Amino acid sequence: MNDAVVQLIQQIKETQISTSQDLEDFRLKYLSKKGAIQQLFKTMGSLTPQERATFGKDVNDLKVLAQNTFEEAQSRFENQHTVLNSATDDLSLPPIAKNIGSVHPLTKTLQEMKSIFYRLGFNIADGPEVEDDFHNFTALNFPPNHPARDTQDTFFVRKNEDPAIPDLVLRTHTSPVQIRLMEKQAPPIRSIMPGRVYRNEAVSPKSYFLFHQVEALYVDHNVSVADLKESLITFVKLMYGSDVTYRLRPSFFPFTEPSLEMDIWWGSKESGKWLEILGSGMVDPNVFKAVNIDPEIYSGFAWGMGVERMAILKYEIDDIRTFYENDIRFLHQFV
Ligand code: DAH
Repeated sequence: MNDAVVQLIQQIKETQISTSQDLEDFRLKYLSKKGAIQQLFKTMGSLTPQERATFGKDVNDLKVLAQNTFEEAQSRFENQHTVLNSATDDLSLPPIAKNIGSVHPLTKTLQEMKSIFYRLGFNIADGPEVEDDFHNFTALNFPPNHPARDTQDTFFVRKNEDPAIPDLVLRTHTSPVQIRLMEKQAPPIRSIMPGRVYRNEAVSPKSYFLFHQVEALYVDHNVSVADLKESLITFVKLMYGSDVTYRLRPSFFPFTEPSLEMDIWWGSKESGKWLEILGSGMVDPNVFKAVNIDPEIYSGFAWGMGVERMAILKYEIDDIRTFYENDIRFLHQFV
């Protein structure tokens, strides 16, 4: 084989085409009208017919090799979205940082709450967001047509005059999950029930029609108010630090008796104020009866708290709507 042909084959095989500029250089050098292969064809005139036959074949093979090499590199680039450009891309530069997402402050707060309850020996349960009247109200000892139902600003999914067809609501609290849990599981029960709840409230910096609660339920033999207080205090210290200032106030909920609310002192000693963080109480005997648990044998405590409220305090957020707008500038503060 002709020396020039052998050399070119060698060269082509060794060529590295890694940028679009390399590809263009390759085309100009070998495949263009003024390229090395055309130059070889031009020398054929000076050969004998015999030489010309073998030389012609060799140069043709060379051309096929060059073309294949070119096309292979070209299609490699087409498949790659980024074509490196030797003039601008420096492979030794550090990569451009990716826009990394962040955990939503509500998720973060919920994770923290969950991890505290895991330490206290609670597991997690959940229930549906579309509830029937029985679980959301009746079994929780809300009497029919009782005004307490109104305080919940219920969204109705199905409201029917016929008493045989149950009303369906968007659950107004996570307390119905207590009922579902006790219906299917015999005590001892020690669970938390996080989830979304809905109330027909005007949207403002302080209220939204959707928010999140965490319900806690502990049912066993001999559960007392002292156990409730002990658990509340442990929780609030783990959540807000052991120096947190708190108070317990008597309250009312249809599903607990007695009922307590917990406040924590927020802000400085002089200019701070009490903020309510949760409702709680001893499970009302009527609630146990609704789920066929004997209140003579078992007792329990329950509590419910808002995740938004906890996050607002934790991260000093002053507008509840920011949690749902997903404005990147807000979310980026939590990276
Ligand atoms: N379900 C109540 C509400 O949404 C909160 C609550 C209060 C839950 C007392 C409880 C409880 O489990 O014992 O306002």
